[in-house]
Amino acid sequence: MRAIALTEYGGPEVLRLSEVEDPVYGPEEVLIRIRAAGVNRADLLQREGRYPPPAPAPKVEIPGLECAGEVAAVGARVGLFRPGQRVAALVPGGGYAEKVAVHERLVWSVPTGLSSTEAAAVPEAFLTAYDALTQQAGLTAGQWVLIHAAAGGVGSAAVQLATWMGTHVVATVGSDEKAAWVRGLGADYVVNYRQQTFLEVIRAYTPGMDAVLDFVGQTYWEDNLESLVPGGVLVVVGTLSGDRVQARLGVLLGRRLTVRGTALRSRPLELRFALVQQFVRRVLPALAQGRLKPLVDATFPLSEAARAHAYMQENRVQGKIVLTV
Ligand SMILES: NC(=O)c1ccc[n+]([C@@H]2O[C@H](COP(=O)([O-])OP(=O)(O)OC[C@H]3O[C@@H](n4cnc5c(N)ncnc54)[C@H](OP(=O)(O)O)[C@@H]3O)[C@@H](O)[C@H]2O)c1
Repeated sequence: MRAIALTEYGGPEVLRLSEVEDPVYGPEEVLIRIRAAGVNRADLLQREGRYPPPAPAPKVEIPGLECAGEVAAVGARVGLFRPGQRVAALVPGGGYAEKVAVHERLVWSVPTGLSSTEAAAVPEAFLTAYDALTQQAGLTAGQWVLIHAAAGGVGSAAVQLATWMGTHVVATVGSDEKAAWVRGLGADYVVNYRQQTFLEVIRAYTPGMDAVLDFVGQTYWEDNLESLVPGGVLVVVGTLSGDRVQARLGVLLGRRLTVRGTALRSRPLELRFALVQQFVRRVLPALAQGRLKPLVDATFPLSEAARAHAYMQENRVQGKIVLTV
């Protein structure tokens, strides 16, 4: 099959299409004929050699954490899927390819209304956002959440999910164009951080945040903690600006704050199975009904993965970038 196999680390130019062996699927695995694969920020780090795939290391390193397509074949013990079925999956790697083998419990059927391109924009963004809002932050209807990088893939899914759950949202973005777009997703307040600090807005218009979903890290550390009400939770989902902070432990102690880190890909398989099961039961029906939407900003053919990465690096994305296969 053809795939983007990493033979060296570096800039977008190292993403080249090559011929590699077809994946071998195990008894509990589904072999997917990929039609579309989502691009994630983590893929950029992997390309640079800064985000190695989880052990055991694959023979050929192919990026790609999510995909959609049809079932090409199933292992002997697979009970949930049959060849020909349209599916999407959360994969630990291997999405930038024509085929991938994945455990059946990380796969789900694509609702009829969604194209493969839309379905491929869902797994990583919606599962990460859903998990962060519910399991990590424990948010419920009527509470407040601050969502950074809100026009990004995970951020835009988080704004939609939080609004759908009845949670009030303050969002941050880096341009007025993004701000208007995120307002359209249901956020109560959107801050263009180039013009105003989010802390000003939170203090002026809200009772304080019950939780913060942070992708930025270092530069937002102090203001994130200042945003929280007593007992609030800071969920560290990404560290785009760096991961070094100076902590004033007295602030955590005095206001009973919780700081939680989360990572999807390195989570034990059983925990990923459980999350997928919850997502299929609770969130997928809303995607099928159009109450939640996969938001695809741009598509590129798999052979142009380098252009897709360069585009993501420009930070202009509103929603997701998808590679078509
Ligand atoms: N923990 C997990 O399991 C998990 C899972 C998925 C993703 N993530 C992480 O979540 C983050 C977002 O991923 P994504 O795929 O949604 O990315 P994305 O679509 O590329 O969005 C990222 C956005 O972050 C904003 N940003 C703010 N500060 C930045 C900075 N210092 N450097 C670069 N961008 C900055 C930019 O928007 P503005 O111009 O509007 O600021 C950028 O467009 C990444 O750090 C990723 O690694 C973690």
